[in-house]
Amino acid sequence: MNRSELETIARAMVAKGKGILAADESSGTIKKRFDNIKVESTQETRRSYRELLFTAPAAADYISGVILYDETIRQKTKDGTPFPQYLQGLGILPGIKVDMGAKALAGFPKETITEGLDGLRERLAEYHGLGARFAKWRAVIDIAEDIPTAFAIEANAHALARYAALCQEAGIVPIVEPEVLMDGGHTLERCEEVTNQVLAAVFAQLHSHRIHLEGTILKPNMVISGKKCPMRAAAQQVAEATIRCLRRHVPSAVPGIAFLSGGQSSPEATEHLNRMNVLGPHPWELTFSYGRALQEEALQAWGGKPENVEAGQKAFLRRAKFNGLARSGAYDA
Ligand code: 13P
Repeated sequence: MNRSELETIARAMVAKGKGILAADESSGTIKKRFDNIKVESTQETRRSYRELLFTAPAAADYISGVILYDETIRQKTKDGTPFPQYLQGLGILPGIKVDMGAKALAGFPKETITEGLDGLRERLAEYHGLGARFAKWRAVIDIAEDIPTAFAIEANAHALARYAALCQEAGIVPIVEPEVLMDGGHTLERCEEVTNQVLAAVFAQLHSHRIHLEGTILKPNMVISGKKCPMRAAAQQVAEATIRCLRRHVPSAVPGIAFLSGGQSSPEATEHLNRMNVLGPHPWELTFSYGRALQEEALQAWGGKPENVEAGQKAFLRRAKFNGLARSGAYDA
């Protein structure tokens, strides 16, 4: 393992003023996003939409890295440049989603385990050859009355740590993403309780698996009320609870924390990140690794029409810029 190389990549991923674009939707997920704007999902529409994002002028001012999907890392711009090389040319790090999705956990109804460890060493070597310098693995923890179980948390934390170890062996920085979903009707307090349990388990497993924390990025959920909670907590409470939770569990050796948006609206996700950075200084960089919250407005503006590519890029850059400002608490809504 080349530790200093991992550290250099990890620090670049959380460089000041910048964050990560999660453009690694699986073919199933991107189809859902396209269905919303009535665009057919084909290899070519997916390629041209990703090209819209990656070629947005000055994207590199706010975007340090892009998480790609297996199909996307093999695609090219219309001029024939492979996407990873195109991004590298802009000074943007290419990354790759390597998990194979959250599957039903046998014996634990309603809970999932993320799969994808078999053959991962070989896949990582191939992705490194294609230009990937970081990777992502998402574990999913749902909240309901009798879940999550301690077992499901432990199993997912263990898989995350095994993935992280294989990444570091391959010279790839692991984004460790344990996502506590905001889908339910639970309170912020319940989310905080579960996120505390999850982060404790994740860092214990990272330690057991001898992970080099300085070459690791954490991608957590924010501590937030469930979407269906009748009394949703205000932005300031979200910011304070999230920071409280992170300070308890994330060693300062970790260079950065890059949040997922998880179903928050684009303005909410910017506002929350901004408030957390206002509460700084923190021992780690606090940035974004948003999928939906960076792309929603761009998708709407584009609508699958070639004549709207520029409008889509403008919408994307506007939101990327706002998040870039939120990165230092300088966003003013
Ligand atoms: P969202 O920001 O849409 O939650 O996506 C981020 C991500 O990469 C989920 O794995």
